[in-house]
Amino acid sequence: MALPVKLLQFLDRDSPRQQARLRQELAAGLMAPQARIAPKFFYDSLGSRLFDAITELPEYYLTRTEAAIFVEHLPAIRQSLGEDFTLIDLGCGNCGKAGRLFHAGVLPARYVAVDISVNFLRDSLQQLKRELPAIEMTGIGLDFTDQVQLPDDLPLPRRMFFYPGSSIGNFSPLEAEGFLRRLAAQMDASGGLLIGVDLIKDKALLDAAYDDALGVTAAFNRNLLRHVNARLDADFDLGDWRHVAYYNARDARIEMYLEACRALTTSWPDLADRKLRHFAAGERIHTENSYKYSPEGFTALLASAGFVDIRIWTDPRNWFALVFARPAK
Ligand code: AVJ
Repeated sequence: MALPVKLLQFLDRDSPRQQARLRQELAAGLMAPQARIAPKFFYDSLGSRLFDAITELPEYYLTRTEAAIFVEHLPAIRQSLGEDFTLIDLGCGNCGKAGRLFHAGVLPARYVAVDISVNFLRDSLQQLKRELPAIEMTGIGLDFTDQVQLPDDLPLPRRMFFYPGSSIGNFSPLEAEGFLRRLAAQMDASGGLLIGVDLIKDKALLDAAYDDALGVTAAFNRNLLRHVNARLDADFDLGDWRHVAYYNARDARIEMYLEACRALTTSWPDLADRKLRHFAAGERIHTENSYKYSPEGFTALLASAGFVDIRIWTDPRNWFALVFARPAK
């Protein structure tokens, strides 16, 4: 049998040790005085599907506005990326954004798709590989929020990091700066970053985007508790929790919470015993921040993270920005 010329390779970094760490992180977050669950836990396979549904909601303008910017500014984006590059897609989800770029004729030599939801990633990438067999593809199941661990044999020249969708908004500005600086450290002077960022806008538009009429975002948020029940063997009753999301203009961020509808106690196994966490009626678990930027603010953030040659494309309403930058080397 002939060996395939162009590989489709998978690296699963979700080892038992990593899983134990994630359980510890979850338990520590739930026991904190302000209980929290990190947004990366949204993306179990149902969560990834619910996020896909969010992107189709009329209120959730982000994905479609970003897609329109791609269409509108394709020649300039193509020119920025150049030729014979490696596209490293951070949080590729269904790989739809990269797929649309490829189908529009912006073709990398190599595609590296990274996502925390490894089974969802495997399905998405296999589908994309069938459509575009000429591109060498690697999938990495990885929580890249602590470390972007690339394959050892990945060439250094022309690494283009692709971070669309405004996922950078899940970091605080300070964390974002550190994350972007770590990305810059993984490129040489021929590398680049193509990143999407949601812009500051009217509160009513932002509130609606994160609390839609159909309740899909509420389901996405509450699905966290199913995921936590599975990972931690906890006993959250979804009926006891409601979705809360609103724009905090002072800090330029959406805040999302799960709020206990009544006083309750939840528990999960801990050594020989069970860990108990009591919640008062109305007490909240913080589940997500989604920071919004001005074009000037985001440019300053990129500059302080060590990027130069910053180019920004926006839509006519100035709702979203697509930004390309190079590392200062
Ligand atoms: C995937 C982080 C970009 O913040 O808009 C969507 C996640 N949360 N609706 C965002 C999300 C609620 C999304 N990001």
